[in-house]
Amino acid sequence: MNMFSENKNFWENAINSRRSVRSYKRMPVSPETMVKIKSFDSEIAIPFSHSVRIEYFKTREGKQLANHLKKPPEDAVAFITDTSNILNITAVGFVGELALLYAQGLGVSNCWFGHYILDEIEQIVPNIDILKQSNRPRVGYGKGNVNGIHAVCISPLGYFEPDGMRLLDRFASTVMSFKRKSLNELFTDNISETSLPDSLKFAFDMARKAPSAGNTQHWRFKVSTDFKTIDIVKIKGYTHFKWEHCDVDIGICAAHFWIGLSMQNINCELNQVLEDDSVTWRFKLL
Ligand SMILES: Cc1cc2nc3c(=O)[nH]c(=O)nc-3n(C[C@H](O)[C@H](O)[C@H](O)COP(=O)(O)O)c2cc1C
Repeated sequence: MNMFSENKNFWENAINSRRSVRSYKRMPVSPETMVKIKSFDSEIAIPFSHSVRIEYFKTREGKQLANHLKKPPEDAVAFITDTSNILNITAVGFVGELALLYAQGLGVSNCWFGHYILDEIEQIVPNIDILKQSNRPRVGYGKGNVNGIHAVCISPLGYFEPDGMRLLDRFASTVMSFKRKSLNELFTDNISETSLPDSLKFAFDMARKAPSAGNTQHWRFKVSTDFKTIDIVKIKGYTHFKWEHCDVDIGICAAHFWIGLSMQNINCELNQVLEDDSVTWRFKLL
């Protein structure tokens, strides 16, 4: 047994109920809940070595955190790493999503933001490097391999405020939020959903529900003929005109798949394989 199989309903509900929330009440996360969220981060055994730092911080009232987050809640979290290495970038997705799903399960809404307001985040998040004047974007930490320790993404943490929803938020939450590709659209080879063992189908279903920037779902699933090796990869050559760090999303999807396996007590060896300039998340089922 593990923490996911012992609390299968908690994790399944967290995955099925999570939606990006961009409108919040201006109040803190309850102190007891915050203690739980922070201790989860220190207790969870991430199945690979990584150097992602999770930093919880307080926001400033009236200060915008992102284009679509004009009035942030009091609490937020940043996912920080050395951004010169693509393996760190994709690990941010995996580690961050576990933390955000746990918060979701405790009733704390959140939303990944890659395009946070850089000036504001650099002022309020401790122990990150300040980008040099010459390569400063307005939002996010920059394009490509940026040297230094930066927040790859942030997320607000708080309670939904329906009255604060603007037209765009309503559009995003009703049109983009719920739409996910079917499993059959996500396999790279001639695999169909019906040929899979139920246990794998379940884990893939958890994976396909992962969030991605702009809901692009640019992950694909490769399954070996004996169903023992599963690769989660970015579509070959994929880039997005707006979101520069689309390997984060692949890490998020891998986290959902790993939770799906763990909920069923399926053990695996998990490796990130660097091929050309792309990372494959390789699961070898044991
Ligand atoms: C890595 C990542 C970065 C994101 N960055 C932003 C962002 O900068 N601004 C924003 O409004 N939403 C952002 N989102 C939220 C996505 O738009 C959202 O997850 C997607 O539309 C699917 O909707 P859902 O999360 O409600 O299912 C981001 C999501 C991910 C996974």
